[in-house]
Amino acid sequence: MKLNIFANPNLLHEAAAQTIVRLLRQKPDAVLGLATGGTPVGIYEALTAAVRRREVSFARAASFNLDEYVGLPPDHPASYRYYMDQHLFRHIDIPPERTHIPDGCAADLERECERYDRLLQAAGRIDLMLLGLGHNGHIGFNEPGRALHSKTHVAILHPQTREANARFFRTPEEVPTRAITMGLGSIFSARTILLVVKGNDKADIVHRALTGPITTECPASLLQLHPRLVVMLDEGAAARIKCQTTQNAFHEPVDSTNGLW
Ligand code: PGA
Repeated sequence: MKLNIFANPNLLHEAAAQTIVRLLRQKPDAVLGLATGGTPVGIYEALTAAVRRREVSFARAASFNLDEYVGLPPDHPASYRYYMDQHLFRHIDIPPERTHIPDGCAADLERECERYDRLLQAAGRIDLMLLGLGHNGHIGFNEPGRALHSKTHVAILHPQTREANARFFRTPEEVPTRAITMGLGSIFSARTILLVVKGNDKADIVHRALTGPITTECPASLLQLHPRLVVMLDEGAAARIKCQTTQNAFHEPVDSTNGLW
């Protein structure tokens, strides 16, 4: 694991964006796994700025998002397709047909999951999977439980997840109860996983995920097993593990992700 702790969220966003920029410069046709939610917004702003400055191009890249709510059409302001269009895709030069997000309105959800897995397989390996972290340890919508899925599947959202995401809807009741999400197998097949977490409210779950036992009750704890995991935290999210790093429970923190690709 490579662990980077940043003094403020802006530095964190810039560093995460630069990791993606460096990958695309070395591999213009990279396959990116992308996340939604509050965490990546600043990263996408930094990527948009990099494209405007012509530092990078997404013209040959492809992207696969982690998840989409069941029942929300692409033009619903809380759908993840809408989010991605607003925060990233319409500002950069990625061809729309190479941006993939599960269709939460598909008539047959099981077939949609299978279709998504086929697309993932056809694209080859994801080069870089960007992940946020839920307060309950979920990654994508792989929620804590007795078992986890390897493939894309329909997930029942945890009450804590619905509560956390209610801020994106007019009323809490509007938050969908189900979502299509990539499974742990697809996430794990990524060459590199970039886990980005901000805020003191995530300090406990970061500590549990990165230093606690590996258990399906905390899906992010499985990331400890990934051979190329890069973790980027702000001071708030790192509050509980900082003491651990000084006790050598981790590899030495590194300043950059140079040499990853
Ligand atoms: P957030 O969500 O970035 O909105 O905190 C992270 C997640 O639930 O994966």
